[in-house]
Amino acid sequence: MNNVGVLGIGTYVPEKVFTNEDFEKILDTSDEWITEMTGIKERRFAEDMETSDLAYEAAKEAIENSGVSKEDIDMIIVATSTGDQKFPTVATMLQHRLGLRNIPSMDQLAACTGFIYGVVTGAQFIQTGTYRHVLVVGADKLSKITDFSDRSTAVLFGDGAGAVVLGEVEEGFGMKSFDLGSNGQGGSYLYGDEEDGGNIRMNGREVFKFAVRQMGESSVIVTEKAGLDKDDIDRLVPHQANIRIMNAARERMEMPPEKMSSTIDKYGNTSAASIPLSIHHDVKNGKIKSGDNLILVGFGGGLTWGSICLTWGSNKEETHG
Ligand code: ACO
Repeated sequence: MNNVGVLGIGTYVPEKVFTNEDFEKILDTSDEWITEMTGIKERRFAEDMETSDLAYEAAKEAIENSGVSKEDIDMIIVATSTGDQKFPTVATMLQHRLGLRNIPSMDQLAACTGFIYGVVTGAQFIQTGTYRHVLVVGADKLSKITDFSDRSTAVLFGDGAGAVVLGEVEEGFGMKSFDLGSNGQGGSYLYGDEEDGGNIRMNGREVFKFAVRQMGESSVIVTEKAGLDKDDIDRLVPHQANIRIMNAARERMEMPPEKMSSTIDKYGNTSAASIPLSIHHDVKNGKIKSGDNLILVGFGGGLTWGSICLTWGSNKEETHG
């Protein structure tokens, strides 16, 4: 089986910043409540950009950073819950807009766990030798399914995109293990309300309890599956849903705060984009380096969850943009 890793990463967030103070003007809420309960200070809104526009910008950068030529991309997977339309998919839009060959492409829906599901799916094709390079994008425009009159959900979400090019990497790098799961019994705790334009409805308490338990558990499972100890993990990259949930997963991994990626203050919960946005942020500021062991862990509507243990980088000489 081929060793699969990330050859390049790219991200995009829209320019429009919406702060907690901006929410104070339209809802009965406060910067103090939002900060204390969630860790969010501001988020980005895509306004007239669609999910495919966000995805395109991130994908373009990921391909550039990977050094892989467009002709050599063999498949596209886009994790999203907010495609521009039901079909055509965002993935086919990207195939055309990026000028890629007529390769297979699909959108995949596992809500906020989407990026983890997408990477694991893409990796299978490379491990088996079927394809050499798979573009995986996590992109969401949650603002289009947010009920801005509901203070318990509106303040949580933002828009963004992140993308990676997966390919074969040297021994010692890349994916070591993964853990995926779902439990449809909890479907009613977090869903898009079809009678209300697909707007997000959430039982915050139940989702909170589930997320705290599942993110911690899944992180421990992938670490063990990889044959590593908690001490061997250099960085935890959790889905950015709520700082308290993220910290609970970190504590379960017995890791100090400085070893956890956090962009929740800047971007809020960007669903399938939150994990690649956080990875790229830390690659740029030097907190994730080639050779580091990472745990990526997410949860989302479904309910779904998943995690990946991987060693960042592709070979001993290279670093990533
Ligand atoms: N501003 C001020 N007060 C608020 C706000 C707000 N924005 N939202 C809720 N409140 C109030 C409630 O009305 C309630 O008031 P009451 O006691 O008078 O009834 C009080 O704050 C407590 O509300 P709870 O919902 O019980 O508070 P909780 O401790 O559960 O925290 C939160 C709420 C932050 C939403 C939490 O439940 C949470 O983070 N849940 C998980 C959210 C999440 O991660 N969802 C997944 C995202 S979706 C996805 O990933 C696709």
